[in-house]
Parts: sequence; C-alpha cells; structure tokens
Amino acid sequence: MTTAVYPGSFDPVTLGHLDVMQRAAGAFDRLVVAVLVNPRKSVTADAQDRAAEIRAVVAESAPDVAGRIEVMTFEGLTVDLATRLDAGFIVRGLRAVSDFESEMQMAHTNRKLRPAVDTVFFMTALEHAYLSSSLIREIASFGGDVSGMVPPAVARRLGLPSV
Ligand code: PNS
Repeated sequence: MTTAVYPGSFDPVTLGHLDVMQRAAGAFDRLVVAVLVNPRKSVTADAQDRAAEIRAVVAESAPDVAGRIEVMTFEGLTVDLATRLDAGFIVRGLRAVSDFESEMQMAHTNRKLRPAVDTVFFMTALEHAYLSSSLIREIASFGGDVSGMVPPAVARRLGLPSV
C-alpha cells in the first residue's frame, strides 16, 4: 500500500488544494492531508477546525476518493510525520514557476533529512492556478466575495460579500 502525505497550512483550503487532493488520492492508496499547527502564523481558524472543514469538504466534493483520504493536524517536521505514517511520498501542488524555487528548496531539504521520502508534485489545474490562500484571506478580510475560489462551506465561513 502506498501512502502519501500532503502537508500544508490550508488557511483556508482552496479549490486548488481540493483538486490536488483528488488527483493525488487517485495516484496513491492512502493520502493523509496534514494541517500544520503553527501558532506564529495568522490563521482564519485553528488547525483542528481547518482539518474538520477539509474532512467535510472532501466528503461532499470528492466522494469517489474520500475513502482514501485521511485528514489530521501535525506539529514538527513533515519528514517525521511521513515516517510515523509509513508514507514514502510528500505531495505538493505547483501552480506556476513562482512556486518552483521554494518548493525545490523544501523538496531537497526534506530529501536530505529523509532520503527514503520523495516529494511528488501535481500541477494545479489551470482554472485554479491563480488561487492563493493568502490572497483569499485578504479578500475575505475586506468583505470581498471568495465564492468560486474556495469550497462553498469555506466561503460561507469566511462571510458573504459586503456589497
Ligand atoms: O501551505 P504551506 O504553508 O505552503 O505549507 C508549508 C509546509 C507546512 C509544507 C511547510 O512549512 C512544512 O513542511 N512545515 C513543517 C516543518 C518542516 O518540516 N519544515 C522543513 C521543511 S523543508
């Protein structure tokens, strides 16, 4: 059984993340979506709530692969989590060339730390490639409309547009 871990902040989870989850779940027997607990980072909801939200979104929007997706929170190093989960792969999404540099650095660093764990990249679907959680947080903080960027339940949580 091949297990992959998909770590991230998911603050909030976007349609781009969901697309990567669906495709990665089709490629591995088990995909563990791991929400980083990071007290220093600004968050729209705490990690447990974001994990519960992702669970609900996956069940609703990706029922065909939901049985292969687990969602949890984690602290510490991603490679340690991968070892605990017996996962041979780390999944990350790549939206554009601008993601490449930091993702390459992370992938090489993780491989240096744990050579047995490889990073696999999925190109985010073109229609979602412009999405970013930080821009979505900013739009929502000013009362803008983020529906069509995040799953409907997340859009409801972040609030309705102010105009
Ligand atoms: O969604 P993000 O914020 O781009 O995800 C970044 C994340 C969670 C994958 C990265 O910060 C991470 O792996 N953090 C855990 C600590 C760790 O392993 N750091 C070394 C990475 S080279």
